[in-house]
Amino acid sequence: MDRIELEQRVQQLNDLLHEYGHAYYVRDTPLVSDAVYDQYMQELLAIETEHPDLVYPDSPSQRVGGEALAGFGKVVHAFPMLSLSNAFNENDLREFDRRVQEAVGHNVSYICELKIDGLAVSLRYEDGKFVQGSTRGDGAVGEDITANLKTIHTIPLRLKEPLTIEVRGEAYMPKKSFAQLNVARDESGEEPFANPRNAAAGSLRQLDPKIAASRSLAVFVYSIGGDGSVYGQDRHSSSLDNLDALGFETNKERQRCTSIEEVIAYIEKWTASRLDLNYEIDGIVVKVDHFEDQEQLGFTARSPKWAIAYKFPAEEVVTKLLGIELSVGRTGVVTPTAILEPVHVAGSTVGRASLHNEDLIKEKDVRIGDTVIIRKAGDIIPEVVAPIIEQRTGDEVPFDMPKNCPECDSELVRIEGEVALRCVNPQCPAQMKEAIIHFVSRNAMNIEGIGERVVDQLYNAELVHDVSDLYTLTKEPLLELERMGEKSVSNLLTAIEASKTNSLEKMLFGLGIRHVGEKAATILAEEFGTLAALMEADVERLLTIHEIGDKVAESLTTYFGNEDVLEVLRKLEAYGVNLTYKGRTRQEMPTEGPFAGKIVVLTGKLSILTRNEAKEQIEALGGKVSGSVSKKTDIVVAGEDAGSKLAKAEELDITVWDEEQLVEALGEKE
Ligand code: IVH
Repeated sequence: MDRIELEQRVQQLNDLLHEYGHAYYVRDTPLVSDAVYDQYMQELLAIETEHPDLVYPDSPSQRVGGEALAGFGKVVHAFPMLSLSNAFNENDLREFDRRVQEAVGHNVSYICELKIDGLAVSLRYEDGKFVQGSTRGDGAVGEDITANLKTIHTIPLRLKEPLTIEVRGEAYMPKKSFAQLNVARDESGEEPFANPRNAAAGSLRQLDPKIAASRSLAVFVYSIGGDGSVYGQDRHSSSLDNLDALGFETNKERQRCTSIEEVIAYIEKWTASRLDLNYEIDGIVVKVDHFEDQEQLGFTARSPKWAIAYKFPAEEVVTKLLGIELSVGRTGVVTPTAILEPVHVAGSTVGRASLHNEDLIKEKDVRIGDTVIIRKAGDIIPEVVAPIIEQRTGDEVPFDMPKNCPECDSELVRIEGEVALRCVNPQCPAQMKEAIIHFVSRNAMNIEGIGERVVDQLYNAELVHDVSDLYTLTKEPLLELERMGEKSVSNLLTAIEASKTNSLEKMLFGLGIRHVGEKAATILAEEFGTLAALMEADVERLLTIHEIGDKVAESLTTYFGNEDVLEVLRKLEAYGVNLTYKGRTRQEMPTEGPFAGKIVVLTGKLSILTRNEAKEQIEALGGKVSGSVSKKTDIVVAGEDAGSKLAKAEELDITVWDEEQLVEALGEKE
């Protein structure tokens, strides 16, 4: 074969193997026998081995898993990967339906889908080629797991059309593959996975893609990133059909419902038959079908208002309460934990469960020695539901909270209006350790490799006393610690070093200032730009920020007024930890121009710009793009077929532009 013939043959083999693979793995209707498939694959592999320049990134041969990686890169999501708010009963669903109808002003249709119990992934395609796949991470930044995702046969490496899109879905491990994997692990003396979700997540977090390739994973895609209407669809249901046509696998059990009664019937059906599926589901996702209605509803900071996840009731089991242990948290709250006779519940063995606080123990009348009912709240955190009074023998012992801190012995206080008992000694070792654990956690400084066990060791060995000490750690003393080898020490030090460059909001959140959660930390970083500027702000100045209230303002000034805190902050600075915000601060936002400080709503179909481009450009000029029209809206941009939002804008007498006016105004920046 000459070069041209060879190239043509490779193209042909690529095409055939893609088609046969799709028929086999996605449509479940093989077109050829396994032997024929294998023969073509062998031929392709032989040519590729001889001519590595003919290995295309989307070659079907890439499914076997390439070279192992040194680590995962980070991926900044073009649209945040949000989560869903939950419904636990019929009431919650009816309430959701009421809110939806009220906001939209008419009856809506819903799409009900199975909530696959796996992990969310984002898949990016350029010109129809799969170029990057990532995990959810903290929603804003995930990990690049492209090499592992390429091994999954239900993820097309090339699409039926040369589209540039991002799709989202759930990666999972079928029940049968999970069972087989655990048998194999057991035989080879490895720890079995607790459930298929952990097995799927564990497989995709391996640096060697050959492991993922050997694990029969699959993906159901459930949405197009951002607003699906960008790709010419007007409804979620038709965009799912479109995803099927492009070569993806969507879950076929979805159903369109035109009333909440139908939604409830769908949920009842799947509550009864979920165990018959060959993959695990943990609930039902209910989504408003029309994109126009979705837009009208918009988002909260965490989740879309147009969807809700109904969670199946938690499995409950019975066991014995052997004792109650006390632990002291980051803020000094003393929490009682139940020590249980180990019992299997919702996919894992549980030996400890939360008892929340003293009042709850009294209210439920839980006694040591009781037979108790256990479940996992939100399917994750084990909790004691209630004792079974009929099974008491009379030997059970009621529990009283101690008067003193179990860690440092200082007197516990009950702050007015709170149920919790608190240790208020700032030097209490338990609190100091918890503060470090919070500082390194994923949504804060994101230092991997330090968990509770390592913090315990670091603290007990007097290597780390406060968070700034993390930046003084060196190799030798770390090697002395239990279960710390060269590799883990080196990874740990690299992770600590990398965290120095984090943007300010990560650190602000990590400091664990009372009432300053992730959202407030970001607002403060955006507003002040540097830690020094924030520290100078008094309560009055803080209260000029629209989203900051009394509680946060006071907590901040108290915090920065503390000499010990100042010392830690000085040290962090001296060790080279970044104390500035990396995004654009509010002061840097344009104050002039057509969009400065303006709230803009985009509606209808845009044809010159994509919705995302329009949004980005408006934001770059200091505007905000919102999903719904209200009195606060300054400009509504109405594309083709604009509906209820345009009507509302007219009703409220808001400036309405067509797309050309928008483009013209955006052009004014130059
Ligand atoms: S829609 C804005 N549909 O459930 C989020 N999610 O909190 C849109 N999940 O981790 C998600 N099956 O990965 C959607 N059919 C489905 C789903 C589904 C599973 C997961 C999702 C996320 C969680 C929702």
